[in-house]
Amino acid sequence: MTIRDTLVNKTILVTGGAGFIGSHLVDRLIKEGAAHVVVIDNLFVGSEDNLVEALATGKATLYRDDAELSTSLEYIFAKHAIDVVFNCATKALNYSFLNPANAFATNVKVALNLLELQRRGLFKSLCHFSTSEVYGSAVYEPMDELHPRNPTTTYAAGKAAADMAVESYVRMFDLDAFIVRPFNNYGPRQNHKGMLAGVIPITAARLLTGGTPELHGEGTQSRDFIYVHDTVDAVVKLYDLMPAGDSVNISTDNQVTVSELLSKICQGLGYDGEVLRKPGRKADVLCHIASNQKVNSMIEYTLTPFEQGLSETLAWYKANIKVPA
Ligand SMILES: NC(=O)c1ccc[n+]([C@@H]2O[C@H](COP(=O)([O-])OP(=O)(O)OC[C@H]3O[C@@H](n4cnc5c(N)ncnc54)[C@H](O)[C@@H]3O)[C@@H](O)[C@H]2O)c1
Repeated sequence: MTIRDTLVNKTILVTGGAGFIGSHLVDRLIKEGAAHVVVIDNLFVGSEDNLVEALATGKATLYRDDAELSTSLEYIFAKHAIDVVFNCATKALNYSFLNPANAFATNVKVALNLLELQRRGLFKSLCHFSTSEVYGSAVYEPMDELHPRNPTTTYAAGKAAADMAVESYVRMFDLDAFIVRPFNNYGPRQNHKGMLAGVIPITAARLLTGGTPELHGEGTQSRDFIYVHDTVDAVVKLYDLMPAGDSVNISTDNQVTVSELLSKICQGLGYDGEVLRKPGRKADVLCHIASNQKVNSMIEYTLTPFEQGLSETLAWYKANIKVPA
């Protein structure tokens, strides 16, 4: 049963929409028939390059601004009659090792700013992006939506606090807001620069620029890697169906250890040299075996085989990372 009105002809705000998942979501919303997609992104990690196609349609507008500041959101809401918000803004998990307080604060402040605007009736529906990181290391597996939230980083603590803010605003003020909780995404456009980059892009970038791949710890830590297009597809389908206040995992049934992953990337990019061993990272979650039973029961859920997604992703990095002369 459909709960919400269609996304067709709606004016939609995507916070963090110049980032990895957000920019793919923007492209998809335009394809779905949104009247206009407004993006607020401070380009902390995101890039205007990710929105080239969306901006070329004339149906997207990018504001380079900070969603942590309520005044920045307010002037956007004064200019556009926003119907729906997808909240993707965040500062990468790795940033919490550099600036733990701000990594926490970004996640909380952006969510609170949006919830306050929604409480004042400035838009109707909110889809908030949580993360599997809120669960911490598994207490039981597979981790379903009832798994205790036991964040091990301030990034995840901020995301868990934001989730609770969404849930409590729904209970207190009957807002139409729900939570999607992706596991580890990979795919084209994921940031590959600097120490904020995740393992797939950073390894691809190292290999493509003549560097040496690095393995942190034993490499036995495992992750559930989902292709970004599958996440976006699930989010758009779930939008019709998710009850307010509810949350849902978006994951595969597939576990890949970091050492297996490194070998696949090396193989994919034709590298058979050495791998540098580095100490494990404190507070690194050991495994994330997810349950995707709920999402599977709600939508027609299609998942790209990991080998195919990884090969498309590596092809994108090959085409987009400049190899030094
Ligand atoms: N990528 C993953 O594997 C993954 C997994 C689980 C959950 N998520 C969640 O999905 C959402 C999108 O993640 P992503 O991977 O696309 O991350 P990303 O870093 O690529 O995108 C986040 C965007 O938010 C922007 N941003 C940061 N602070 C901002 C601020 N104060 N105001 C406006 N914009 C700001 C960044 O510049 C960036 O473009 C996040 O909520 C994240 O927690 C991602």
